[in-house]
Amino acid sequence: MPDLQRVAIVDPSEATREPLRNLLLGLDSVWLEAESPRYEFFLEVVQQSQPDIAIVVMDSDHNKALHLIGQLASAMPQLAILAVSSRTDGPFILQTLRSGAREFLTQPLALEDLLTALQRIRTQRHSSPELNGFGPSASSTVIAVAGSRGGIGSTTLAVNLGSVLAQDSHNNVVLIDLDLALGDTDVSLDIMPSYTLADVAMNIDRLDMTFLRGSLIKHSTGLSLLPHPVQLEDAGLIQEEHLQRVLGLLKVTYSHVILDLSKSYRPLDFTAMQMADIVLLVAQLDLSSIRNVVRLLMAFNNLEGLADKVRVVLNRVGSDDEEITLKKAEETIGRSVFWQIPNDTRNVMSARNAGVPLIQHAPRSKACQAIVGMASALSGGQLVLNGSAAAKPEKKKSFLFF
Ligand SMILES: Nc1ncnc2c1ncn2[C@@H]1O[C@H](COP(=O)(O)OP(=O)(O)O)[C@@H](O)[C@H]1O
Ligand SMILES: [Mg+2]
Repeated sequence: MPDLQRVAIVDPSEATREPLRNLLLGLDSVWLEAESPRYEFFLEVVQQSQPDIAIVVMDSDHNKALHLIGQLASAMPQLAILAVSSRTDGPFILQTLRSGAREFLTQPLALEDLLTALQRIRTQRHSSPELNGFGPSASSTVIAVAGSRGGIGSTTLAVNLGSVLAQDSHNNVVLIDLDLALGDTDVSLDIMPSYTLADVAMNIDRLDMTFLRGSLIKHSTGLSLLPHPVQLEDAGLIQEEHLQRVLGLLKVTYSHVILDLSKSYRPLDFTAMQMADIVLLVAQLDLSSIRNVVRLLMAFNNLEGLADKVRVVLNRVGSDDEEITLKKAEETIGRSVFWQIPNDTRNVMSARNAGVPLIQHAPRSKACQAIVGMASALSGGQLVLNGSAAAKPEKKKSFLFF
């Protein structure tokens, strides 16, 4: 999870201060340190509370606000000042920025704009030389898990990868079940959903972080889940623009967003893959799966950048049902396999039946260890796990090919 940004706000108008406060209180990554209704006292408030960010809402008195921004900037050069105003003429914006504001946002404040500004401030902070090496990375990785036929192991991989990544206290991981009709991430985690993607879609106009977070269910591994709709007929409610909005919001507060896709390769699945940083394409060593990998890669080639994001993951390696060799599969698909997950029927099945992820159910199992290895590779080798069993991936069992 990203470290907290401590924020102080000043806005003499209660009518705009309250919605701003609510927006900020809904953000996991923000700690509201102080709030002031007076420009005159705000410098003192900030000097006492020492926040990382000061949000100055300027509309009550532009001149006083400009003066305050100048004072804040010279008294506390490290403070990131975020100015908010409904005045959007160029000279005014320029004057505000010249006074020392780092960001200028227009009122009424859109959540996405606020999040983007906070993200930018965070990135600047982490890239400033004196702070380098402190705090976790601020970036978010979106991983889509796609399959090359039904029952290939996408959900097993999505759920277990998510719960392994969630073991690292630096991470904040959310899984979205995009297999809208037949998804079973909730079953795999033994979760009874109260809210689902359907609620999010129906309330998309008033969606903010508080609502969105209220729709997520947190599992004891730390993994948060946004389940697929309970009613089959609600699957049609979820449109591409809903997913774009939800992903845009989640990316700011979660270090990893994992998407368990459907096997129908509908527009929503393609939107998910296009928004993803990495697409794990799950396959097995049988003819129909490998043939579909070839077909899918051909289709992905028509979409800019998509094929490059794909990593082929072989599941159930070593099962008796294998029809072709790894070498032949790699030759056929024309690329190397990124990771191999061994066949581990006893552990994978019993974890699934118990509704408990492998990292809790069978952390030493070979399937779990391979997933830990893959999670570590996807984290650039930076994964720090809490449990000792999970912290020692058996590297021999997994093969990394680039
Ligand atoms: N590595 C594995 N070893 C043994 N069984 C597995 C493995 N991965 C998945 N399975 C089993 O395969 C079945 C289908 O897996 P699932 O993840 O639901 O596939 P999908 O989501 O692609 O339809 C499940 O019963 C699961 O227990
Ligand atoms: Mg599935």
